[in-house]
Amino acid sequence: MKFPAEPFRIKVVERIRQTTRDEREQCLQKAGMNVFSIKSDSIYVDLLTDSGTGAMSDEQWAGLMVGDESYAGSRSYFKFEKAILDITGYKEVIPTHQGRVAENLLFSTICKPGDIVPNNTHFDTTRANVEANHAEACDLPVKEALQPSLEKPFKGNMDVKKLDALLTEKRDKIPMVVMTVTNNSMGGQPVSMENIRETSKVCKKHGVMFLIDCARFAENSWFIHELESGYKNKEIIDIARELFSYADGCWMSSKKDALVNIGGFIALNDIELTKQIQNKLILIEGFPTYGGLAGRDLEAIARGLYEGLNQDYLQYRTAQVRYLGEMLLEAGISIVRPVGGHAVFIDAKHFAPHIPQEQFPGVALTVAMYREGGIRGVEIGSLMFGKNGSNGKDSHPPLELVRLAVPRRVYTTAHMTYVAEKIIEIFKQREKMKGLRLTYEAPMLRHFTARMEEID
Ligand code: F0G
Repeated sequence: MKFPAEPFRIKVVERIRQTTRDEREQCLQKAGMNVFSIKSDSIYVDLLTDSGTGAMSDEQWAGLMVGDESYAGSRSYFKFEKAILDITGYKEVIPTHQGRVAENLLFSTICKPGDIVPNNTHFDTTRANVEANHAEACDLPVKEALQPSLEKPFKGNMDVKKLDALLTEKRDKIPMVVMTVTNNSMGGQPVSMENIRETSKVCKKHGVMFLIDCARFAENSWFIHELESGYKNKEIIDIARELFSYADGCWMSSKKDALVNIGGFIALNDIELTKQIQNKLILIEGFPTYGGLAGRDLEAIARGLYEGLNQDYLQYRTAQVRYLGEMLLEAGISIVRPVGGHAVFIDAKHFAPHIPQEQFPGVALTVAMYREGGIRGVEIGSLMFGKNGSNGKDSHPPLELVRLAVPRRVYTTAHMTYVAEKIIEIFKQREKMKGLRLTYEAPMLRHFTARMEEID
């Protein structure tokens, strides 16, 4: 069997609407060919992100009813705190309403202008929060990460030698080192326990704080269980505990592996630093026993953190994403390999070689996916990263990707088959895909609001 059947049955369903091709064409024109501007009611399978889009379990929904909405000392907060302390082993917990607020609080407290923050690879909001504090976000991925078709495990790893060299040269400018698990910006690739251990050793040698951006720590722990020797007989939760034990703290966008629609936290060993952050928390999020969350959200996270570590769930989850990737691969479509934890990344340059980078081949693929199948993915290429150079011309990133991020426990295998079949149909007639030109772009983060037209 290629795919383990879903380890749940369905108690509540949400209707999704099939649209006609004509309707979708109109939606595209209205949206200026930008799928961010299409209403979700007109989308059949939405693979824009796996963040906050998961389905909660009956246990989590039941938790909402017992949520304690007390302003201070909420019962639900203590359940939330207990779960995080149990899984991470750290001493202190700070609740936030999502990951980027945790980043804002951490970097604005720790970073000084001119500092450098090394990371295996920063996620966009992480980078933006480092840069907002006039510090430099330095990515140190292993070189294999930059070869999308290379089939090698743990391409999410940190280049530990480069990290050591950077710390030797500029220790006084480096207030912390970050490891992102899994490495979202590098194809959702996992990081090995060995690499986390080595990174930890280097951080200890230089006396620098080591933090984990743990949005997808459960998926990462699953890959360690499957791929790294010595972990086959360990419980996933114990693998997670070991992973956290090598660092001084973490922060999490709980909208991923905690299986909730909103939430986040910071967990730290440093009590002084926690106090400083708590003072800011009160100013921008809320009292330290709720952060930016309702009591019922805290209740759902406490339960979701354990559900996200369940072995049957993780086996199904990662196999579902892999199933989608393998269907595309078998049809000759080039994707980032091996398939990562939460998403399949299609190589749009290979998919549509007749569309030059300045005509946004990745966007052309997102347009075709919506037009042919009502499927929404996101371009990670020249629209997202191509900046206007000083000569007025755009620069282009090395890779033109389209991410198909799979929400957790939301779509069935049949939906994945549908998505793959539609994309394969498009691939067979890919010469029909058209490049695009911009008709409007914002000065920053242009991909969210850009308007484009197809070039005939
Ligand atoms: N860190 C990582 C690794 C992430 O993937 C994200 C969000 C964040 C931090 C920020 O958390 O959204 O709760 O504020 N990633 C989403 C995505 C948005 O689509 O990959 P947030």
